[in-house]
Amino acid sequence: MANLLVTGGAGFIGVNLVRWWKERNPDDALTVLDSLTYAGNANSLDGLVGTEGFEFIHGDIRDTDMVTDIISDKGIDVLVHLAAESHVDRSIEGPDAFIDTNVVGTHSLLKAARKVWFTNDRWAPHRFHHVSTDEVYGSLAMDDPAFNEETPYAPNSPYSASKAGSDHLVRAYHHTFGMEVTTTNCSNNYGGYQFPEKLIPLVLINTLHGKPLPIYGDGMNVRDWLHVSDHCRGIELAIRKGDPGETYCIGGRNEAPNIEIVKMICRLLGERFAADPELSSRFPECPAASGRDNQELITYVKDRPGHDRRYAIDPTKASSELGYEPEMTFESGIANTIDWYLANEPWWKAVTDGSYRDWIDTNYGARQS
Ligand code: NAD
Ligand code: DAU
Repeated sequence: MANLLVTGGAGFIGVNLVRWWKERNPDDALTVLDSLTYAGNANSLDGLVGTEGFEFIHGDIRDTDMVTDIISDKGIDVLVHLAAESHVDRSIEGPDAFIDTNVVGTHSLLKAARKVWFTNDRWAPHRFHHVSTDEVYGSLAMDDPAFNEETPYAPNSPYSASKAGSDHLVRAYHHTFGMEVTTTNCSNNYGGYQFPEKLIPLVLINTLHGKPLPIYGDGMNVRDWLHVSDHCRGIELAIRKGDPGETYCIGGRNEAPNIEIVKMICRLLGERFAADPELSSRFPECPAASGRDNQELITYVKDRPGHDRRYAIDPTKASSELGYEPEMTFESGIANTIDWYLANEPWWKAVTDGSYRDWIDTNYGARQS
């Protein structure tokens, strides 16, 4: 039995991970530490809070004393670190929070963990698993080989630079102090509970409301999409089988240009509306509700500054050393995600403060070129 502390466990991947872990490891104790920024939502943990072996703590990873007490009092032996500022556009508008949480916050956790786990010149059994991103490797040309663990770091946005900084700190705590760390660098995730500022949920929800679908630049930037459940599988394997000090690239072998993803969502939603007349009453402003093509909402807008052209992951090491393989195809993953958003309208209305329309106008209206 393990005692896990999951930071950022009320955010998109964190919520999926704690649900994944509890289902497969019911005897493990899980503590979630999350400061509930705009991206964190305690309601996403409904059904877990109040159950045996699960606790939610509302707190900030930068509070080193508090984190030290949690690790010590609860006998935490596995710390899974997901808490972060995670949205590239926000890092361009305001980088400070990214340095504070992603760099200073990660160091705060490392300090606290070392203080508790290293006493009398000995390390207690432990694992510090750091969840990071493929964006630390920079941008690929279309004919470049995919990123792997040997690719030199070349972060381009304040977000990716802050994640790179955190990766280096984690590595340094292993190299210098002997802390048992593992890091996963993963590609773009999608799935239920993702805050609707990221491409896939944004496009889904805007389509339902008949709102423009903003495509940055020429829409040909490529991402390597992975269903969040496959990321959770990779994280669990890295914790259980990964060697201390190692990093593992996790991806879906599923590259696609943004415009293709957006058109696919438009088409799949159109098919849902055709098959289920109730959707037209629920979302009358969706073009498909009046028999039109959802693609009419596609709107090309100004490009993201410094927009990375292509990300792609070569997961060979994770596959050969951990036995990692993604199980969801993009077709099944996106169908599952559309189902989730259609079934969980109260969730996405609540995370946008119940004022979804104002929020979307404020945040995306200005981007129209
Ligand atoms: P998210 O933005 O949905 O969630 C982040 C969570 O961290 C939120 O619950 C937030 O409240 C919490 N948080 C932020 N600052 C905090 C602080 N100072 N103290 C405590 N909690 C804090 O992010 P996500 O998409 O779930 O990403 C989780 C992790 O995975 C991040 O480290 C991110 O860099 C990494 N990652 C994300 C993706 C992706 O596609 N989303 C891909 C690869 C790696
Ligand atoms: O690669 C992993 C990373 O994926 C994670 O580390 C980040 O936390 C996560 O946010 C994600 O970063 P991206 O910038 O790739 O994701 P985002 O959903 O913001 O954008 C995906 C692509 O779609 C990107 O090329 C920008 C484009 N885009 C995005 C939005 C929100 C649009 O064209 N229009 C949009 O409105």
